[in-house]
Amino acid sequence: MDKIVVQGGRRRLQGEVSVSGSKNAALPLLISSLLTAEPCVYQNIPHLADIRTTLRLLNGLGVTVDREAWDAGSAELTLRADRVSHFEASYDLVKTMRASFLVLGPLVARFGEARVSAPGGCAIGMRPVNLHLKGLAEMGAAIEQVHGYVEVRAKRLRGAKILLDVPSVGATENLIMAATLAQGTTVIENAAREPEIEDLAAALNNMGAKVDGAGRDVVHIEGVDVLHGVTHRVIPDRIEAGSFVIAGALTGGEVRVIGARPEHLEAFLIKLKEAGVTLETSANSVSVRGNGKIKSVDVTTLPYPGFPTDLQAQMMVLMSVADGVSVITETIFENRFMHALELDRMGTDIRLEGNRAVVRGVRELSGAPVMATDLRASVSLILAGLVANGTTEVARVYHLDRGYEQVEKKLSQLGAEIQRVKA
Ligand code: EPU
Repeated sequence: MDKIVVQGGRRRLQGEVSVSGSKNAALPLLISSLLTAEPCVYQNIPHLADIRTTLRLLNGLGVTVDREAWDAGSAELTLRADRVSHFEASYDLVKTMRASFLVLGPLVARFGEARVSAPGGCAIGMRPVNLHLKGLAEMGAAIEQVHGYVEVRAKRLRGAKILLDVPSVGATENLIMAATLAQGTTVIENAAREPEIEDLAAALNNMGAKVDGAGRDVVHIEGVDVLHGVTHRVIPDRIEAGSFVIAGALTGGEVRVIGARPEHLEAFLIKLKEAGVTLETSANSVSVRGNGKIKSVDVTTLPYPGFPTDLQAQMMVLMSVADGVSVITETIFENRFMHALELDRMGTDIRLEGNRAVVRGVRELSGAPVMATDLRASVSLILAGLVANGTTEVARVYHLDRGYEQVEKKLSQLGAEIQRVKA
C-alpha cells in the first residue's frame, strides 16, 4: 500500500494552490443523473476514488458513463440513464462508500423500486439511515429490510411533510431527489443547509425540478412528471480549501487558495482569525498569512453554517501547536477523534473526554510513522507532518485518495517536501 512521506520542520509554505471540485457535491450530483433519461454533463469533477466508485455503481445500474476524457485528465463527465436495468446497490459498493445509499431516492422516484444494502457502521460513528427511510415512508414508499438490504417500492411517491430529527446532509439530498418526481409537494423541515445541497438543487432545477429553499432549513419541492438533461459545474471543495488554509497558517506561510469561496467557510475563517491568523478574501479565493504564532481557540462542530466536522481534525493539528489550551467539541459524529491517537505519536498533548478533546499546545512535534483512519484524519496527519521535525510517514493513504485530489502535488507546489511512495 502507498505511503505519503513528509519531511517536516519549520518550512513556510508559499504560493498559490487551486481547489478541486467538491467531492461531497459531486457524489449526489452524479447520482441525480438517475432521475432523467437525457444526458447530464457534470464539470469540475475531481479525480477521486469515491467518484470512481460512484461511476462503478451507476454503470452497474445501467447508466452509460462517458468517461474517456475524464480518465485522461479532463474534469468533465457525461452520464445517461436511459437504459437503467438494475435497481440494486450491492453490499460491496455501499460498504466501500456510504454515499451509494443516495441512489435509493432517485431509483424509487423514477422506477418505483430500489434495493440498496444497509450501510452498517462506520469508522467515525454509527451513521444510521433511519431519516432517509422515514422520509421515504412518509412519501408512501413500502420499505422492507431483507438480508441486510433495504427494499423500497412505490408506484409513485407522494408529496409529504417531513421533519428531520437532525439536519442530515444525506437524508436531505436523498429526499429532495425523491421528491422531484413525486406527486404533489414535499416540505422538508429541519433540512441540512450545506452548500452541497444548494448545488444539488441548482442542478435539479435546471433539469426542470421545482426545488425551493435549498440552503435554508425548510425546503419545498413540487413534484414534476419528468426531468431533463443538464450541464452543471460542481462547486469548489470547501473542505479541501480549508485544509490548505490550515497548511498555510500552520507553517507560518503565505498561501493563496484559489477557488475557495469565503461564504462557504465563514465559521471556519472566523475561528482562524480568532486564532490570530491573517486572512484576506475575495469572491473566489482566500489568502492566508501565518506569523508562526497561533492562539488557542475553542471549537464546536455543528451542522452548516456552523464549524464543519470535516475540518475538525485539521483544526486540531493547528491547535496542537497553538499557544494555550483549546477545547474541541465534536457534536456530529460519536467517534471522530481517532486522529488524536495518531497525533499523540507525534508528540501532541491531547486529552479526550467523551466528545471533547482538550488540546494543549506544544512547542514542537516530531515526525513518526502514523496511520490514517479516515479521510479527514489522513490529511490532518499530513498537516502535522509539515511542521513536525523529521520524517512523517502516513500509511493507509487510500483514505486520502477518496477525497483529496493530488494533495502531494499541490503541497509540493507550495514548497512542502512531500512524496508518495508506491508500495
Ligand atoms: N443521522 C441520523 N440518521 C440518519 C442520517 C444521519 O441519525 O438517517 C445522523 C448521523 O449519524 C450524524 C448526523 O446525523 O450524527 C449527520 O450525518 P449526515 O447525514 O449529515 O452525514 P452524511 O450525509 O452521512 C455528509 C458528508 C460527510 C460529512 C457529513 C456532515 C457526504 C458524502 N458526506 O455525510 O463527509 O461529515 O455530511 O457534514 O456528503 C467526509 O467528506 O469526510 C465526510 C465524512
